[in-house]
Amino acid sequence: MKNQLTIVVATNNQHKLKELRELFSPYNVKLLSLNDANIHVNPDENGNSYKENAFIKASEVAKYTKFPVMSDDSGIEISELGDHFPGIYSSRYAKENGGQEVINEFLSTNHHGSKATFHCHIVLLNLKPGSRYDFEGIMEGKINNKIEGEHGFGYDPIFVPDGYEHSVSILSDEEKNSISHRHNATIKVIEFLKQISLI
Ligand code: IMP
Repeated sequence: MKNQLTIVVATNNQHKLKELRELFSPYNVKLLSLNDANIHVNPDENGNSYKENAFIKASEVAKYTKFPVMSDDSGIEISELGDHFPGIYSSRYAKENGGQEVINEFLSTNHHGSKATFHCHIVLLNLKPGSRYDFEGIMEGKINNKIEGEHGFGYDPIFVPDGYEHSVSILSDEEKNSISHRHNATIKVIEFLKQISLI
């Protein structure tokens, strides 16, 4: 049997960590949180793309560990708000406009029906010292005309995936994890780790 693969996840977002742990749970992979790894950093996400921000987070954390590091930068793009917006500013957009509940209320009232896409960019650093691999996933859908459901986080209560009639937050964690942008990026990571025989 192969050795367990340990990876530090460069995020302070507990929702992302939980989803990633569930996605990796069928495999012999141990995902350490920053707390588990005793790393206390809060990198400035000042890049111009998900890719740049994912690398900023992973490379900052990699300074403090010998384990490989994985980071996820993600966001939602809402067509009616303009090109790629809020995108990499998704978290700040909510924080600076009254919080997630307020912004979800605003978007479902004023922009329901707008096409929207979730993006996820995963960077995997130091599988071998100095190595870097990038993976992407998206989930397409539209903005709901109401807030629905209890599961998930962020914009999940107002995002209706294509092929569905209700928001992601109505879905169980397992169901979200079978269609999400994070799932679609993670399956590429898992496929890659299988190819190079690490799992
Ligand atoms: P960051 O990647 O830490 O910069 O933050 C991503 C932000 O995008 C989160 O704070 C959420 O607002 C939003 N987001 C990313 N992924 C999801 C998701 O799976 N569901 C709902 N919102 C998400």
